[in-house]
Amino acid sequence: MTDLSRRVMLTVPILLSACSPVASEARDMAKSKILVAYFTRSGNTKVIAGTVQRDLPADLFEIQPKTPYPDDYEATVEQARIERDRGIEPPLLGTVPDFDRYGDIYLAFPIWGETAPPVIRSFLKTHDTSSKVIRPLITHGGYGLGNSLSVLKAHAPTAQIEPPFIMEADQERRTLTQVRAWLSQLAEN
Ligand SMILES: Cc1cc2nc3c(=O)[nH]c(=O)nc-3n(C[C@H](O)[C@H](O)[C@H](O)COP(=O)(O)O)c2cc1C
Repeated sequence: MTDLSRRVMLTVPILLSACSPVASEARDMAKSKILVAYFTRSGNTKVIAGTVQRDLPADLFEIQPKTPYPDDYEATVEQARIERDRGIEPPLLGTVPDFDRYGDIYLAFPIWGETAPPVIRSFLKTHDTSSKVIRPLITHGGYGLGNSLSVLKAHAPTAQIEPPFIMEADQERRTLTQVRAWLSQLAEN
């Protein structure tokens, strides 16, 4: 047997097995079983979600409403308040593909109106979280978690909810106040 034909004989079975359904299943199983799903407006929560996703590693999914919130902060606060008080669950732009294959869900969100943002309720409503482990990653602007954890429990009653990672982060309101104070000083001079 020539050197070349020996090499072909050795290589062909390897190539064939790589194309077989068993091999592709094995490749799928090697994909991450961990998901980081996050919602953010001003980016604080995105930094945390991205760090967790890269360090674990995990897959990353951004939770987005179908209709974006206004750019204006105060208008967003008002809309979020109405949605919270009326129990509105805004439709999402998309859902997580193949959600079934994830066991651990890191769910990252900011506190809005002393609770979880309405899209987090939408997310839990549209994804079957039974038998999942949920690890909340929560940012807030200084007023704490409010009732966000009981909202998670109510919307994911059969999930195992682990103690959250909590971090106080920049508040858009504080930034707006400082910028506006500076602008009005400019106008006075
Ligand atoms: C609509 C809205 C409502 C908020 N409500 C609260 C609140 O009730 N308590 C609080 O501590 N921070 C509140 N914040 C501040 C955010 O929770 C905080 O700045 C968070 O880190 C923002 O995360 P993000 O940059 O990922 O959007 C609110 C922010 C927005 C935009």
